[in-house]
Amino acid sequence: MQGDIDRILIPRQRIAQRVREMARQITADFSSDGDSCEITIVPILTGAMIFCADLIREIPISLRIGMITVSSYPGRSVASQGAEVLSRQLEDVRSRRVLLVDDILDTGNTLGLVVPLLKEMGAASVRTCVLLRKDNPTALAFQADYIGFDIPNEFVVGYGLDFNNHYRNLPEIVTLKQHVLEARP
Ligand code: PRP
Repeated sequence: MQGDIDRILIPRQRIAQRVREMARQITADFSSDGDSCEITIVPILTGAMIFCADLIREIPISLRIGMITVSSYPGRSVASQGAEVLSRQLEDVRSRRVLLVDDILDTGNTLGLVVPLLKEMGAASVRTCVLLRKDNPTALAFQADYIGFDIPNEFVVGYGLDFNNHYRNLPEIVTLKQHVLEARP
């Protein structure tokens, strides 16, 4: 696995530091809402699981967790095939403040699908939080509320992000060598 890495884009210490900063901002914003609605955090699986697990442990306020699984880059895809909800374990989100958490904002198809869904389900508000935002026009056009890092428009893995469901357990955000991306299955 280590031999497949081209370069480390964001080392683990920088991720940890930024996650703490984001959590502080989120905590401050939700605390100062002056709103008694409870909070539901919804990671968009599978990619957001590691980011969300680290993030929520830095948010010392009462919250519940829902989950939704969306796929746009099945298998060895490096370009979006269109976002599709595969499953959801959302309890009643009516009148709750929802924070959607995703690992990366690329085409915006995923958040563009899930934000309206949560609103249709009756959420009082829906905020969005992404660890990474790619440098492309559609990602930049999407108004995410919390953004960890702006990164180049390259295919990245690690810290939850995958290629063919591998590399999610790498602790850094990395790029892969071209021959790994191009290798036949
Ligand atoms: C990835 C990633 C985001 C989404 C972002 O999910 O985890 O959820 O794509 O891309 P977009 O802005 O172009 O929609 P993927 O479909 O690969 O599923 P995964 O979370 O299981 O890896």
